[in-house]
Amino acid sequence: MKKTVRRYRVALTYPLPRRVIDDVVKPWADVTLVRTRAELIRALPRMDGVLTLLTDRVDEPLLQRAARLRAVGNVAVGYDNIDLNACQRRGIAVLNTPDVLTRATAELTLALLFATARRISEGNALCRSGRWRGWDPGQLIGQQLQGRRAVILGRGRIGRETAKLLRALGIRAEFITRTDRPSAIANKLNRAQILSIHAPLTPKTRHWLNAYRLGLLPPDAIVLNTSRGPLIDEAALAAALARKQIFAAGLDVYEHEPRINPRLRKLPNVVLLPHIGSATAQTREAMARLAAQGVINVLRGKRAKNRVV
Ligand code: GLV
Repeated sequence: MKKTVRRYRVALTYPLPRRVIDDVVKPWADVTLVRTRAELIRALPRMDGVLTLLTDRVDEPLLQRAARLRAVGNVAVGYDNIDLNACQRRGIAVLNTPDVLTRATAELTLALLFATARRISEGNALCRSGRWRGWDPGQLIGQQLQGRRAVILGRGRIGRETAKLLRALGIRAEFITRTDRPSAIANKLNRAQILSIHAPLTPKTRHWLNAYRLGLLPPDAIVLNTSRGPLIDEAALAAALARKQIFAAGLDVYEHEPRINPRLRKLPNVVLLPHIGSATAQTREAMARLAAQGVINVLRGKRAKNRVV
């Protein structure tokens, strides 16, 4: 007698690449695309799995509707949008996308470093404005990177990859970790001509870079953030940049996305990007594949290496 294979139901909060749906999801599950939180809430009672984005809040009110949900695959490495305890209490697995976006995010950090150190956005704006009056030895003076000292908050995958790229440029890179003593952190910040943030958002890291720590940085410091916006007190950063207490900042993430502090938007010594750390074609497909495969593995009772809880 032919054995019937049980088909699962999986909701997607964005259209995953076709190839990923066909290769990974379709052989095991029927797919429903939900475009809004209201649609997700309506569909959830029927779903075995869901693939979410970092902009989807997976919280208690949503999970109360999750009658048969067994897996949430977040197409992101960060999972601060998900209430892990609430998932764990219900026996719902949470999966993320480590490794596949490490290089893309480290490369974007370097892009922000070059852009801030060499004032690329200001130069681009000047050329486009039609106001450039020709070569001038005093124009848009930036900073040479070779020989500078960088400090990286976080010794995870992306922090370590960023350190590797910085060292290849002749920049000395060291780490700050959460177990460092306050005096060691202060000493490192005192010499941080580049401070690059690569730590997850947790209650302990919220506003890690505050007015006090910004005050420890040297005046030629460049602050980079490609992790999560709330790690920086944005008002304090805008104030430090406005009074030229530090040289520049390169930001890909913000405290209240997609709203960007209006003071930051007006400052010339900030380069602002719209949260595109992992936005390469290769990486985005790999992220979708990893999250989808994790969800299908959990539903099929198999091991998933990217399981968070
Ligand atoms: C992007 O910010 C991610 O967490 O993957």
